[in-house]
Amino acid sequence: MPTRIERGTALPLDLLVDEAVFDLEMRQLWERDWVFATSVDAVADPGDHVEVKVGRESVIVVRGEDLAIRAFANACTHRGTPLIDGPGSLKRFSCPYHAWTFDTWGALLSVPYTQPDEICKDQHGLHEYRAEQWQGLVFVCLDDEVEPLAERLSVIDPYVRPLALDRLHHDTASESSELWKTNWKSAHIAAVDSYSHFRVHAETIEPVSPTDATYYLAGSAAATVMGGESSQRADHLVIAIPPSFVAVAWPDTLLWRSWNPADVGHTNVRVGMASEQPVAEGSSVHLPGWDAAFIDEDRAICERVQRNARARFTPGPLIDLESAVGDFHDYLAWRLADTPPPPPVITAAPGDRPEPL
Ligand code: FES
Ligand SMILES: [Fe+2]
Repeated sequence: MPTRIERGTALPLDLLVDEAVFDLEMRQLWERDWVFATSVDAVADPGDHVEVKVGRESVIVVRGEDLAIRAFANACTHRGTPLIDGPGSLKRFSCPYHAWTFDTWGALLSVPYTQPDEICKDQHGLHEYRAEQWQGLVFVCLDDEVEPLAERLSVIDPYVRPLALDRLHHDTASESSELWKTNWKSAHIAAVDSYSHFRVHAETIEPVSPTDATYYLAGSAAATVMGGESSQRADHLVIAIPPSFVAVAWPDTLLWRSWNPADVGHTNVRVGMASEQPVAEGSSVHLPGWDAAFIDEDRAICERVQRNARARFTPGPLIDLESAVGDFHDYLAWRLADTPPPPPVITAAPGDRPEPL
């Protein structure tokens, strides 16, 4: 299968409905790679936690009493019961089944109805996963061997770092999530598809960020950064970190999108924003000049493609404007088939634009 993924041609449609491919993607990508979990602001204070899906696993991301952010399997070490449902703030996680209780370091503190030496608590702490931060964003990796997040992002980091996105305040209350009837790969591709501005987003994005004013800056199979004009504003960056995350960033605003597959034909898509000023209670961050309906337009086009996944189809060529889609194909081939990724492509230095074609 993975050899059927080419940099220069569209994905074969059957890869959007193939259960065996989906299973491979879960094991090789989602449950082995760096996956976006949440913003640092969503777990601002000790005990603040969220539940996130990473591939098929439920994970607790929690701010510890020492202020470190950690990730744990959301599974009690007694009989595996989930400890939490959704976000909250707790210094102790008490299992709803028999009340085994854990702290924010994942240590097992108490086991009801046991003699003092009956259970060795040190051996039954929560399973910890890797959690790393970048630009105010928290990523989790279920695998111990995969390269550090900083290495994954080394090509795009010099372009993004000057924006100092970790200054921004995430509006956690306005985060939204919805189930799209599409394979997750289409959600990623739509989010990086500047070629579609003039058509899919003719009324929303095209008037403020025309297709022909978008440009590729740097990228590889590991991550991609693009740029584009935003009318009456500084140029924006589009940051793509497969398999789970794409964001549009201006100096004063970040709009992120992240997804986790529900099954081969359904994907949970989350949207969140951050801005320079903390958001007052009850209000939400305003997307400057951009009509947020463009996300619904992406949903509609993704679901339309999914409906056609059984069509007889020979993948068509990708054009130059679709280089970020090519990077995503390289990512899939790299992670699924161990195909060595091509070297990074750099078209302009940080802060510059590439020469027009
Ligand atoms: S399953 Fe959690 S305490 Fe028994
Ligand atoms: Fe789009």
